[in-house]
Amino acid sequence: MDKTRLRLAIQKSGRLAEDSFELLKLSGLKIQPNKSGLFYRVKNFPLDLLLVRDDDIPGFVADGVADLGIVGSNVFEEFSLTHADKQSNTLLPLGFSKCTLNIAIPSEQNYNSMADLAGKNIATSYPQILSKALAAKNITANIVEMHGAVEVAPKLGIADAICDIVSSGATLEANGLKSVENIFTSQALLLKTKSQLGPEKEQSLSRLLSRIEGVQACKETKYIMLNAPQTALPEITKLLPGADAPTVMPLEGQNGAVAIHAVCRESVFWETMENLRDAGATSILVLPIEKMMV
Ligand code: PRP
Ligand code: ZN
Repeated sequence: MDKTRLRLAIQKSGRLAEDSFELLKLSGLKIQPNKSGLFYRVKNFPLDLLLVRDDDIPGFVADGVADLGIVGSNVFEEFSLTHADKQSNTLLPLGFSKCTLNIAIPSEQNYNSMADLAGKNIATSYPQILSKALAAKNITANIVEMHGAVEVAPKLGIADAICDIVSSGATLEANGLKSVENIFTSQALLLKTKSQLGPEKEQSLSRLLSRIEGVQACKETKYIMLNAPQTALPEITKLLPGADAPTVMPLEGQNGAVAIHAVCRESVFWETMENLRDAGATSILVLPIEKMMV
C-alpha cells in the first residue's frame, strides 16, 4: 500500500454513501471517479477511497486494508461484538446517517413489554446486538439471522418479530409492522486502523480531521439577523438557539427599533422563527455559514 496516501473505506452505495460523499465534498476533496467503481482517487489531497459494502468496512480497517473507514455505529458494534480480536479506533462520531435499531412486530398485535418476546422468533441482521439487548432483560428468544429483506420475515412466517434499522419508519409501515423497542442508536463513525500509519499519513489525517471538524461546526451553525423593538430584546435573546452574545444595532430613523445579529450554534427551526416573530421580530433572516475554522 502507498505509504503517503491515506486509504479511506466508504460504503459503495446507499444512504451512508451519500452522506459520506457529501462530507468529503464539503471538506474540499475533489474525487476522481473511475470505471472500476472500487477505488477512487482524490485529486487534491493525499487520499484514496475504497468503495465497499458497509458491512465489510470494520474488518478492512481492523486488518489495515484501509487506514480509515466511515461506517454506521450499528455495523461497527455488531462487528466488534462478533470479532473481539479485531479492533479499530473510533476517531469521532460524524453526526449523520442517524438511525435506530428497533424491534418491530405486526401492527395489529398487542405489546406490553420485552417479556412478550420470550420464546419468539426474531429475524435480524444484527444477532449480536439483539442478543445482548435480550440478555440485559433476561429474555430468551430465538434469533433468526437474515441478511436483507428482514422486514418481510413476519409475512413469510419466518419470524414473529424483526429487529432492524429504522430511519424514517417507512419500511416498517409499508410492511405492516410497528416498532416496540429501540435497542440501539446509531450514527456514522470515522474509524482508524490500529496499524501504524507513518508520519506522512498521520499529518494528512490531522489535516483531514480539522476540515471535518470545521464542516461539522458549520452544519449546525447559522447566522441569524432580525429587527425588533428594543423592548423585546430580552425575550428574543432567550429564544436564539445556542447563541453567544448577539450584536445589537439601532435602526436608523426607527424609534426604539434595533437590528439583532447572532451566530447560533444549534439548528434554527421554523418553530423558532415563529416564536421570534411572536416575540416581535420582523425581517428574520437565517443564513448558512460557508466555512469555519475552530
Ligand atoms: C435499512 C433497513 C430498512 C431501511 C429502513 O436498510 O434495513 O430496510 O433501512 O429505513 P426507513 O425506516 O427509512 O424505511 P439500509 O438500506 O439503510 O442499509 P443496509 O441494507 O445496509 O442495512
Ligand atoms: Zn449493509
